[in-house]
Amino acid sequence: MHKDPDRLIVPDAALQAGVGGEMFDALLGHFSGGVEAGDLQPAMLESLRNEFDRSEFFGRDMRRLWAMLEVVVARSGRVPGAGREVLNLLNLACGYCEEGAVLSAYWGRGGGRVSQFAMDLRDAEIDKARRRYSATESLFRRAGVPPVRGRDGGASVEFVAGDASKLAGVGQIPANFDVVFIRHQNLWHDRPTWQRIFEFALARIADDGLLLITSYFDREHLLAMALLKALGGRVLVSERNPASRELDCAGKSIDRHVAAVVRS
Ligand SMILES: C[S@@+](CC[C@H](N)C(=O)[O-])C[C@H]1O[C@@H](n2cnc3c(N)ncnc32)[C@H](O)[C@@H]1O
Repeated sequence: MHKDPDRLIVPDAALQAGVGGEMFDALLGHFSGGVEAGDLQPAMLESLRNEFDRSEFFGRDMRRLWAMLEVVVARSGRVPGAGREVLNLLNLACGYCEEGAVLSAYWGRGGGRVSQFAMDLRDAEIDKARRRYSATESLFRRAGVPPVRGRDGGASVEFVAGDASKLAGVGQIPANFDVVFIRHQNLWHDRPTWQRIFEFALARIADDGLLLITSYFDREHLLAMALLKALGGRVLVSERNPASRELDCAGKSIDRHVAAVVRS
């Protein structure tokens, strides 16, 4: 599944070179729980594939995030969850979690199972996250993909409203995760809270695992990298995303920086 890091291409070129098709196939694998595409309705599947190709959402930020993950993970030299039946993924401060299905698809693209636990402080965001995930799942159901259930019969991504800075003693959280993901960390806004979130994230990375973290701003990213190092982290890779979509605030763009961090 790992590609040669030197042969990886930057995201915008990657978009032309089939990231979309690879992401679609991985999403199909995720939502079908590995059912062969041949068992599904070919015409429906083709129309869904075309819908994805035309989709602004899946065609823009998600493809670029996917391409950045490929580069950063390959350059980190780590293969989280290798040899294990289920890869445990923790998505901290996930907001409305645009990337919920895409992250599970990315880590499950070799055919392995992914158990994703996604959390945010705000109930309203978690509500939206659940609805967004279900909406994507229902696109696949229309093409005949049966629903895949996770623990306790729920959706295969578990969305939880809670305070990520106070998780240290929460019993139902696994002891460690192959991948801890934080998209658009917010250290600038509230340093004490984010310091606790970073401490928790570092403490829960499995031995061969990775903390993957993205930032909107240059300065905030540098501060986050410095703090993670001060807390005992080692930054293996940090890449500026050349295809990051600019937002209305100067210097702010989507997944502007993506880094892979481990415990030193
Ligand atoms: C900049 S937003 C990023 C949201 C999302 N990851 C994204 O990329 O769109 C920061 C998020 O951190 C969440 N947050 C802030 N403090 C938190 C805490 N103590 N525990 C969990 N989430 C928190 C906020 O609710 C918000 O959704």
